[in-house]
Amino acid sequence: MSKILVTGGLGYIGSHTVVELVQAGYEPLVIDNLSESDIEVKDRIEEIVGKQILFEQVEMCNIDELEALFKKYDIRAVIHFAAFLLVNESVKNPLKYYHNNLLSTTNLLSVMLDHQVHAVVFSSSCTVYGNPDELPVTENAFIKPAVSPYGNTKKIGEDILKDTALATDLKVISLRYFNPIGAHESALIGEFQDGEPHHLVPYITETAFGIRKELKVFGDDYNTPDGSCVRDYIHVVDVAKAHISAVKRLLEKDTESFEVFNLGMGVGVSVLEMIHAFKEATGIEIAYTIAPRREGDVEAVYADTTKANTILGWKTEKSLKDAMGDAWRWENALRGEN
Ligand code: WQD
Repeated sequence: MSKILVTGGLGYIGSHTVVELVQAGYEPLVIDNLSESDIEVKDRIEEIVGKQILFEQVEMCNIDELEALFKKYDIRAVIHFAAFLLVNESVKNPLKYYHNNLLSTTNLLSVMLDHQVHAVVFSSSCTVYGNPDELPVTENAFIKPAVSPYGNTKKIGEDILKDTALATDLKVISLRYFNPIGAHESALIGEFQDGEPHHLVPYITETAFGIRKELKVFGDDYNTPDGSCVRDYIHVVDVAKAHISAVKRLLEKDTESFEVFNLGMGVGVSVLEMIHAFKEATGIEIAYTIAPRREGDVEAVYADTTKANTILGWKTEKSLKDAMGDAWRWENALRGEN
């Protein structure tokens, strides 16, 4: 059976997408260089889906390794997650991000085209919108200059894919995630946490667990209803399912060369509302203090999801409460093991 190649398939969104691919009847081929993930995630995915997962450790910046992979397997589409994704780290070490995130993408496309593989789903981000001029954000919103090298690699990545698609038979769907949160209901896979968390929800669950004394709310003087920043938080399983819809569309429909879809709940939620949502879901009160604004934070951003709902035929099924409950169970599973 021909395979769906999933690059970075042991990462946060990747691992949840591999689960959904198997459950939708596809056969994933997972590659990962294990720089930001753990091989144990493969065992966890297999435990969830009840079958072996094809996995190869591949360094995508080495084109020979990709060439060998495409020679070995019959691949009919690719979902490209593999990338470094930490905004702060990218500011401190931009070359690491430009080298890895862009070279892995150009290597992938070169080898795909050499092997007549023409369908790719790209993991992009709402970060390309910067501080949007109007809300909710549609896919036609002006793409702002990136506020971080990480965000710039997503924007340049889309440009590389778009220009290549216009010049070849490549067909691309770029999925712009808003803020993925939560974990699989089994609590076997979730957001990889290695030391300091990188996003709001792991900070909330670590505070709830007692690992942190309190949550710092980065600013309450924004021009938003309660003064704290607003985001569009979407359950990671809903994000994963959108990738299945995108692969299906590329394999079964005659699509444009380059299509973009926003993946969000379509609702703006503030940091303070997230603290309340966590209490609603778990009964746990989160201690917090108001801290200074965080450099580079966008005041408010949330998605217009009409295009994904109508053209991709995808819509979110899980609630914020589901996501907070799943995130809390994941935190407990993580701590239970350590
Ligand atoms: C969310 C809100 C913080 C921690 C990032 C990436 C973006 C995308 C989604 C990949 C902000 C506030 C946070 C804390 C806080 N990822 N916060 N206290 O920055 O919206 O987006 O994840 O594509 O590219 O940049 O997510 O979770 O860091 O912050 O008050 O301890 O929570 O100020 O308003 P962000 P985040």
